[in-house]
Amino acid sequence: MNTRNAPGALRELQSACPDVEISTEPAVLESHGLDWTRFRDPAPLAVAFPRKLEDVQALVRHACGAGLAIVPSGGRTGLSGGAVAAGGELVVSFDRMRQMLEFDPVDASIRVEAGMTTGAVQEFAAANDLYYPVSFASEGTSQIGGNIATNAGGIRVLRHGLTRERVTGLKVVTGTGAVLECNRGLIKNASGYDLRHLFIGSEGTLGLIVEATLRLERRPPPGKVMLLGLTGLDALMNVFSDLRRTVALSAFEFLTDKALAHVCAGHELSRPLETECPLYVVAEFDCPGDEAEEAALASFERGVERGWLADGIIAQSAAQNAELWRYREGISESITALRPYKNDLSVRISRVPEFLQRMDALVAEIASDYEVVWYGHIGDGNLHMNIIGPEGLGPDEFEARCHEISNRTYALTEEMGGSISAEHGLGLLKSPWLGRARSAAEIEAMRAIKRVFDPAGILNPGKLFPNDG
Ligand code: MLT
Ligand code: ZN
Repeated sequence: MNTRNAPGALRELQSACPDVEISTEPAVLESHGLDWTRFRDPAPLAVAFPRKLEDVQALVRHACGAGLAIVPSGGRTGLSGGAVAAGGELVVSFDRMRQMLEFDPVDASIRVEAGMTTGAVQEFAAANDLYYPVSFASEGTSQIGGNIATNAGGIRVLRHGLTRERVTGLKVVTGTGAVLECNRGLIKNASGYDLRHLFIGSEGTLGLIVEATLRLERRPPPGKVMLLGLTGLDALMNVFSDLRRTVALSAFEFLTDKALAHVCAGHELSRPLETECPLYVVAEFDCPGDEAEEAALASFERGVERGWLADGIIAQSAAQNAELWRYREGISESITALRPYKNDLSVRISRVPEFLQRMDALVAEIASDYEVVWYGHIGDGNLHMNIIGPEGLGPDEFEARCHEISNRTYALTEEMGGSISAEHGLGLLKSPWLGRARSAAEIEAMRAIKRVFDPAGILNPGKLFPNDG
């Protein structure tokens, strides 16, 4: 988008879409031009607030003809810059499209507008004695459209899978303004390409998701949470395997001693265990009765006998479950003010200990003055490596250093057969390294698909694909 002619572009937009609320209020440009990444200065042309499908179509058709870049915008809780508008783009916000459109108790499914929050979907499901299992710390703010665009994960992927597993139907406006209704809520549909799956995880580069049909689950039995103190990295997979064999695990999350120190300081929490350990795990399992708890305790005792575990605590009430979860779910917020450079890496589960060890050694070698805070969804092989720079380092210098660090750490991730984004997406921040996650042939095929749905290249440029094309 050429911002030199911004007033003209804005006038044309407003006259092409007279029924759509379009804001150029500085506070709105500021809030809706950024996501939680906070690594860029927001500079959108305007923020549009469509209320219906036809509004979205009108905006996209105009943008397509005018060559105006669009940034689709949900709850803006992303951590890779996927919803950043820093170059005169039109932000299309789904804040005014938050309605529940349909609930079918027989199908156990709902049809919702893209702007409905993840938390509202969970609450609706619970009120109808059902369950929406996608869960993470920002669920009160994040929106379903954004969850689908990034194929969001969270803490219960181990049991229930990613957002992709929930989506049985999508209504999408492509980059030409065409409307696609994908799969229409069907469970089985063998009538050709399942286009729905192309849009899931496409980070707004193929189309704007306006509606989704989501599969709900039967409410699971009450869960119980354990917080375990491990003796070291070697114990991690042993504890995981033993617990997984013994109980019905729904989450297996880890944090290091540094992460625990941050979450305790940031949220004024006392240390959960008497023994100081290098690693901690927060695990949750189905606990319909005493038997499951006894089995979990037996697994804990085995872990102590075999030298894997040094300490542990098991919740005795729903309130204690929530208290123990705070030690894991509060970490991200507790380090936000330190502006960490976030990494969302994944490897095969069995390779996690080796990966952690090699990555730690590499970062210690190339950035010994930086602090590295690890936590994540270890039961899915998904590790969040947060790099915190020394005090006094300017943001540009910090980002440039992290760029260099990423060149090395992502090369190692590739060498170990992993991915440089597990659940946050590539966005603007990680797109330069797309080639570390996908082969040249895959990228060529992805670009060809992009040209089909977005021939004018207006949808979220610079996200997922590097800015050069
Ligand atoms: C988490 O697992 O806590 C989220 O993905 C957020 C983060 O990585 O900080
Ligand atoms: Zn995560």
